[in-house]
Amino acid sequence: MLFDTHAHYDDEAFDADRAELLASMPGRGVGLIVNPGCTVKSSRTAVSLAEAFPHVYAAVGIHPENCADFAPVHMDEIRALAGRDKVVAIGEIGLDYYWPENPPRALQQQVLRAHMALAQELGLPVIIHDREAHADCLAVVREFPAVTGVFHCYSGSVEMARELLDRGWMLSFNGALTFKNARRAPEVVAEIPMDRLMIETDAPYLAPVPYRGKRNNSGYVHLVAEKIAEIKGLSAEEVEQITWDNGRRFFRIA
Ligand code: NI
Repeated sequence: MLFDTHAHYDDEAFDADRAELLASMPGRGVGLIVNPGCTVKSSRTAVSLAEAFPHVYAAVGIHPENCADFAPVHMDEIRALAGRDKVVAIGEIGLDYYWPENPPRALQQQVLRAHMALAQELGLPVIIHDREAHADCLAVVREFPAVTGVFHCYSGSVEMARELLDRGWMLSFNGALTFKNARRAPEVVAEIPMDRLMIETDAPYLAPVPYRGKRNNSGYVHLVAEKIAEIKGLSAEEVEQITWDNGRRFFRIA
C-alpha cells in the first residue's frame, strides 16, 4: 500500500467531493494519509477527518503563510488539538520567504520556534515547510536537537540534506520531483538512503506529471513512487513498501 504523508483534504478545493474521495483511497492502493493543518481552524478540520476515516491521520500547526495574526493563545489551541487521538505530528510549520506579501520573517521564526518547543515538550515529530528559507530553517533545527521531523517537498541542497540526515531527520518528495525543470530534488533523491525518504502529494497542489496544473489527490502518489524508483534503480513496488514502512515508523503508526 502507498502512504501519502502530506495532503490537505481540509482545503476548499475538496469541498464538493471530500468524503467520497477520501473513502475511495484504500481501493486505489492508498492505505494511509497524513493531513497537516495550516491554521488553528484547518488543524481542527484535520483532526475531524482523522476521526472520520480510519486511514487518515492528522498533524496540527500554523503554516508560516498564515501566521500574520498569531497570538500566544493559538499555541494553547494547537497544544489541546495535539493531544487528540490520531494526531501524529506538529505541522505544517516552517518558513516561507518566497511570497513578498508573507508575514515578516521575524514573526515566522517566532511562530516556528513556538511550535518546535511544543513538539519537544510533547515528544512529537514536526513537518517543516521550507521555501527559500534554507539557512534560517536549518538554524532553527540546530537550536532544537531533541526534535526531529521531516522537510516536506524538500528543496534544499545535497549538503543540507546530509546535515539533516545526520541529525535524524527525514525528507519527503512529491509531484514537483516529476516536473521537467526539477534539478536539485532528483539529485538529492539519488544521494540519500532509501530509509530516510517519504512520499507525499501536497494535494490539492503540485499534481505530478501528467496531471501537472490539475487538482492533486492521493490517488496520484504512485507517480512519485515511480519517479523515485526510476532515480534509484528500484521497482515501484520496492519504493512503495519502503516508503510505507518509513512513514509508519516516523509517524509511529502501528
Ligand atoms: Ni503542505
